[in-house]
Amino acid sequence: MYAAITGWGKCLPPAILSNDDLATFLDTSDEWITSRTGMKERRISHVDVSELGYVAAARALAAAGKQPEDVELIVFGSTTFDELCPNGASNIQRLLGAENAACMDLNTACTSGMYSLTVATSMIKSGVVKSAIIIGAEVISKVMDWSNRDVAVLFGDGAAALYLEASTTAEGVLAESLGCFGEARDILSLQGWGMKYADKKRILGDVQWAFVGQEIFKKAVNGMTKASQQTLEKSDLQPEDIDLVVPHQANLRIIDTLTKKLKMPNDKVFINIERYGNMSAATALVALVEAVEEGYVKPGNLLLMPAFGGGLTLSAHLVKWGERTQPVAQSAVELPENTKTGLEMVNALR
Ligand code: ACO
Repeated sequence: MYAAITGWGKCLPPAILSNDDLATFLDTSDEWITSRTGMKERRISHVDVSELGYVAAARALAAAGKQPEDVELIVFGSTTFDELCPNGASNIQRLLGAENAACMDLNTACTSGMYSLTVATSMIKSGVVKSAIIIGAEVISKVMDWSNRDVAVLFGDGAAALYLEASTTAEGVLAESLGCFGEARDILSLQGWGMKYADKKRILGDVQWAFVGQEIFKKAVNGMTKASQQTLEKSDLQPEDIDLVVPHQANLRIIDTLTKKLKMPNDKVFINIERYGNMSAATALVALVEAVEEGYVKPGNLLLMPAFGGGLTLSAHLVKWGERTQPVAQSAVELPENTKTGLEMVNALR
């Protein structure tokens, strides 16, 4: 049994925050951000993360040509859930009307969308469920320390979702390698976000980011290289067998170093970091959805999807795309209208 990916959808909030916008309140510049990261702009959400996730999920469901009652499992990957109890997946179930779905949240920071793909695929392969929606979504803007230029320039908000269904054809995730550098967990932490910081009246105080950029950079490259090589070995494949690399997009220089180590030519690597920055759990899934929408993914292609995140968690998935690259239908679901600019929203959060 396999878990074919038959639906895909994304939801990017419309408000844009450009590098020049950031330079209005931080000691930074478009030149620095572009040359060090490859990022030009990112999105700022005017809605909660489960609403972004819901719209992406509704689009994935329509793309698969399925109804809400067909969904047997929702796995919601994020680091920025609206609430810890009840979980975020239950809100997506309610908004979708997917009353037959089991619901769970999953947090492995930036790899949450990819770990969600493993969990749902494994549950379909083992026969626990026959279908699933997985979501990667973040509203990082609400936990950002907007006074810290080391991190404030790197992240953005967004969501993407995939619909998976049981299939006897060898497609979907064919192999993966997951891991974690737990001993390095403190080099990327959101201090103030979680029960450790709770006092009697409130849970969330001012969030301070501990972030050792150069160490994260090195561990990201080494970890994703190792995970990718292990995945290729498990599948008895060589780098030249891969049609497209769709990596987590945290820094263009990380992607360039990784793909050089893997001996992958640049024209086989999908990049959209300039548009969105790092959307953590949403990043790799938005990249996959856009690679399909923009025609980079062809029927039957083999995709390699390396990712890393806080923890420091690691993953690399080998995905075989199916025969269909066009959606069965389009969803009519849209986000509520937003009248504010990205800069106006960020100024209100600072
Ligand atoms: N604008 C202008 N200057 C800056 C900025 C900024 N936004 N940020 C740092 N600088 C300065 C530094 O202060 C330093 O100045 P100095 O030389 O006077 O001391 C100089 O630029 C160079 O700083 P470095 O840290 O050496 O810059 P580097 O080339 O390493 O790039 C970066 C920094 C982009 C953060 C890089 O290290 C990186 O991408 N690391 C990985 C980050 C990452 O992937 N994060 C995702 C985490 S995943 C998750 O789960 C959340």
